[in-house]
Amino acid sequence: MVSSTLFTCILTSAVLGQVGSAKPLAKRLDNGLGKTPALGWNTWNAGQCNFATAAKALQAADLFDSLGLKALGYNYINIDDCWSNKARNSSGYLVADPARWPNGMKAVADSLHAKGLKLGLYGDSGTQTCAGYPGSQGYEDKDAKTLASWGVDYWKYDNCATPGGNSQPRYEKMRDTLLSSGRPIFYSLCNWGRDNVWTWGGKVGNSWRITDDNFNSWSYVASIAARGATIAQYGVPGGFNDWDMMQISNGKLNAGEERAHMGLWAIGKSPILLGMDLSKISSSSLAIVKNKALLAINQDPLGKPATTFRPSGAAAPSASALYPYWAGPLSDGVVIGLVAADSAATLTVKFADVPGLGAGTFSWTEVYSGKTGSGTSVSAQLALHDMAVFKVVK
Ligand code: GAL
Repeated sequence: MVSSTLFTCILTSAVLGQVGSAKPLAKRLDNGLGKTPALGWNTWNAGQCNFATAAKALQAADLFDSLGLKALGYNYINIDDCWSNKARNSSGYLVADPARWPNGMKAVADSLHAKGLKLGLYGDSGTQTCAGYPGSQGYEDKDAKTLASWGVDYWKYDNCATPGGNSQPRYEKMRDTLLSSGRPIFYSLCNWGRDNVWTWGGKVGNSWRITDDNFNSWSYVASIAARGATIAQYGVPGGFNDWDMMQISNGKLNAGEERAHMGLWAIGKSPILLGMDLSKISSSSLAIVKNKALLAINQDPLGKPATTFRPSGAAAPSASALYPYWAGPLSDGVVIGLVAADSAATLTVKFADVPGLGAGTFSWTEVYSGKTGSGTSVSAQLALHDMAVFKVVK
């Protein structure tokens, strides 16, 4: 599938696609968390409200071990919408639904912590969550205290049932209460990419959703990645663009599309929050989400998202369509992603065209096939929507 081609001609320099430089933020959120993108699992894509239970959280923790996910760095077990009672208690505090959390939320947090894992919960910046459970508007302090007292490690904050207007102040209010809660809590902004969140997300949260949901089909994967390419420069250690939860092993993507989904999210430095029923994951999907070389690229300490670049002779990228050519710097090399966005194709790039490389001979490894080589270019023969990811070193 993957081969190296030697070019002896004079190589032209790279033509940048959508790479830009972010305006530095005056002040970034510094809660010590999210220096690399979050890795974990979330209940929503796996089973919506039905999965927001202690039993599913504890089962996921066991499966993180037995499937080998924990050993690879997956550590967040995130409970999405529907975990609480429909009403606050008489003092205004959120209550974990006893039918779903028979021993309370803290018992689950303790049990996950004992296994070296972390617990995430979901809330909303309006009066109600998207599924109609209590939102935090007007209760931010109480809710931050509750999360800290339970030992919650991650808070996803949604944008339903709000008064409208700019969402930034609502997200800042919760940031401030979380910071004064006495516990470092990863803060995941979920305003669906509204209000150009990437321009201020870094001073408010550890990650911010850049689009509406990754509903389960290739077209969402492709359009989210296309958006991600245009705002890659806003991702830095401590705060990353969140391309939304994974749809691998959820029945709608073929193996090549799953490789592209994982590959794009990984090189784009998105959080990777698995979204399948872990007890039913297929072995081919498991191999994709456990790809060690790809996870190392996602977790590279440099934390610089890859974006598109335009090789000499290639059509220009457009902001709304998935582009085949991607690259980004790593602390010990450069990653190149090639994705057959519109048709089966043999895609070739000369290293001289790749930002961060240049004229010269480089060694490469393709993460899915494990093939290695060296030369002045890489090439991949790909079925429609499939992807190859090359780690390139001097
Ligand atoms: C959406 C959010 C999803 C999920 C859902 C729960 O607004 O984007 O990721 O959390 O709410 O109701």
